[in-house]
Amino acid sequence: MRLDKFISNNTNYSRKQTKKLIDLKKVTINDFLVIDGSIKINLEKDVIKINDQIISKKSFVYIALNKPKGYVCSNSNIEGKSVLELILENHKNLHTIGRLDKDTTGLIILTNDGSFTHFIKSPKNEIEKEYQVWLEKPFEKKMLEKLNQDIYLDGKKIKKFKIKNIDQNKLNIILYEGKYHHIKRIFKIVNNPVVKLNRIRINKLSLNNLNLELGKYKYIEIKDILDI
Ligand code: URA
Repeated sequence: MRLDKFISNNTNYSRKQTKKLIDLKKVTINDFLVIDGSIKINLEKDVIKINDQIISKKSFVYIALNKPKGYVCSNSNIEGKSVLELILENHKNLHTIGRLDKDTTGLIILTNDGSFTHFIKSPKNEIEKEYQVWLEKPFEKKMLEKLNQDIYLDGKKIKKFKIKNIDQNKLNIILYEGKYHHIKRIFKIVNNPVVKLNRIRINKLSLNNLNLELGKYKYIEIKDILDI
């Protein structure tokens, strides 16, 4: 990893501030003065110091929460109670990976690891998110046929999704990307509004195996979500 990236990732200094610190000769690797922020460092062996203080790798947290209704996934008080209020410990930069609507329940991951958030959210990584959907009316074959055609949201063709376990007005849907009101807008196309939505899985991480009551959470690890 580049030295400047390591410093900006693990301190409150931006890349620009890091460059300034290097120009001011405040940064050392193994007690040798650094003159170029692009130098590659070895995270296992190298000791990085700023003003003689060791910079250690930040420890990231990953939390699986069973989100209850009535909570929003942002930290703006205007929109209502935030899921962040349900986490009793303090973690700087804690945020949700994507968002569930205020009236949606189920699995949401919180972390302070921005690059992990980016990885999970990026449509190109096609991370599966599975939801249980309850519809106003029974889901009919002709609706499925319509939804199997190309669908555009916000003027862009959305990724294909999977629908399974159809049982009258109940089914499961698997998405590979997440747009605002994604599922609600999909079912509006076939005039069958969503009445209830519950997310049950993000890739390997399944609500079933977590044994979490609504509003409760558990600390997890990346390997619980991805095969690593
Ligand atoms: N799609 C929606 O419409 N709402 C959610 O909360 C999640 C996916």
